[in-house]
Amino acid sequence: MTIYLAAEKPFARGGNRLCYVHPGDDGLCIKVRRPDFTLADRRRKKGFPKNLKPLSSFDDNLEEARVMASLQARYGELVFLHVSQCYGFVDTDMGRGLVSQLVRDDSGAISQTLKKVIWDEGFTEECRQAVGELGQFWMNNLVPSRHLLLHNIVVQRDSQGRIKRLVVIDGLGSPGLLPMRLLPPLVQRRKIEKKIAVMHERIQTLLGQRHLASFPGYHGLLMHDGLSSQ
Ligand SMILES: Nc1ncnc2c1ncn2[C@@H]1O[C@H](COP(=O)(O)OP(=O)(O)O)[C@@H](O)[C@H]1O
Ligand SMILES: [Mg+2]
Repeated sequence: MTIYLAAEKPFARGGNRLCYVHPGDDGLCIKVRRPDFTLADRRRKKGFPKNLKPLSSFDDNLEEARVMASLQARYGELVFLHVSQCYGFVDTDMGRGLVSQLVRDDSGAISQTLKKVIWDEGFTEECRQAVGELGQFWMNNLVPSRHLLLHNIVVQRDSQGRIKRLVVIDGLGSPGLLPMRLLPPLVQRRKIEKKIAVMHERIQTLLGQRHLASFPGYHGLLMHDGLSSQ
């Protein structure tokens, strides 16, 4: 069965994918490749020698599905505290889409990115604590990920507007040639410490940009809140 998305408005656009609320279940999102930035475009942009890799290796949806399955097998449900759960592929009129849990606040609105929250509010004590918890979770479980980018983390809030948890929605998997789990635990820990340190550097950079008139870049802003414009 084909799911029709092309006529819908995506709620977000990342560097590679468009994200839609699942037309049949508003608790799920479907991510499809951006038609204006194909896998071949992406491979071309990488240049030599990365452009020698097969086209499928540039597909975030495939990579994300693979990593999610291995994380679930390794850690069970626990991992979905801070990672959005993934439910496999569906056919859409925009190509194969990856279905995952759509993170919403208790108000029903789609949760905002950490980048947007820090841009709007600064690095509040509550936010600092939530970032600390995420870092601790990443260390305790040695979750393989690329850099923890502020637009790839969403901030879920309760009905009072308090932060419940941070959820990583993109950028999972081993960045290097070797899968992380094959590295000695000490090396894994070092790598994760580095990822967390870089995340804090990015927070500081963003804080330093708050005097600017407009939000830096378009990554991290939602195109609708998932309530009104469906
Ligand atoms: N499961 C999700 N729940 C809530 N928001 C999401 C979810 N997945 C993606 N988003 C939003 O969509 C944006 C783009 O999604 P992302 O998966 O990062 O795409 P890309 O691979 O193109 O970077 C994110 O910055 C985030 O705001
Ligand atoms: Mg992203």
